[in-house]
Amino acid sequence: MFAQKHAIITGGSSGIGKATAQLLASLGSNITIIGRDRTRLEAAKVEISSKCLDSNQQVITLSADVADRVQATAAINTAIERNGLPSFLVNSAGIAHPGYFQELPLEIFEQTMAINYFGSLYCSEALQSASLRLELPNINSIRRRFCSSSELATS
Ligand SMILES: NC(=O)c1ccc[n+]([C@@H]2O[C@H](COP(=O)([O-])OP(=O)(O)OC[C@H]3O[C@@H](n4cnc5c(N)ncnc54)[C@H](OP(=O)(O)O)[C@@H]3O)[C@@H](O)[C@H]2O)c1
Repeated sequence: MFAQKHAIITGGSSGIGKATAQLLASLGSNITIIGRDRTRLEAAKVEISSKCLDSNQQVITLSADVADRVQATAAINTAIERNGLPSFLVNSAGIAHPGYFQELPLEIFEQTMAINYFGSLYCSEALQSASLRLELPNINSIRRRFCSSSELATS
């Protein structure tokens, strides 16, 4: 189910996203991880690569801010160009600022929505558009596999 499949994982340089990337690499998948910090991406690539079953598996890093629609779309399209259409898109790029509602400035909520919500939306939409462009026979098969880190955390 996972061997030789392509998995794109936003937020794959840390936390849940990196753990997911390592797991999928250990099951034989080709991996693309997306995050902003290049140093962290490259460090994660070493860790993820160490889990690969064989040397033919690809582990690609792409630096992009998923809250920026242009960057998010470009990253998804680059991932597809380099590793083919993915079987899995894991939207795990996100931030969390715990605190009491009355103590958190509105900017924190705006930033959280921009990254966690719109970042996931932009990447999902970019993949759907690319799938339609490339005439994937059944887009619903991809839609069903979209998941957020919140879903991962609760499943
Ligand atoms: N850990 C939990 O138990 C848990 C439970 C439920 C939900 N969540 C949610 O799941 C998400 C991930 O949690 P985590 O614990 O894995 O967090 P984490 O360890 O801080 O990892 C966040 C990842 O997202 C990337 N990222 C953040 N902002 C980004 C942006 N604008 N564009 C692209 N990449 C971005 C980070 O890389 P860069 O900073 O380099 O971009 C990093 O790779 C968060 O939203 C968190 O609130 C976590």
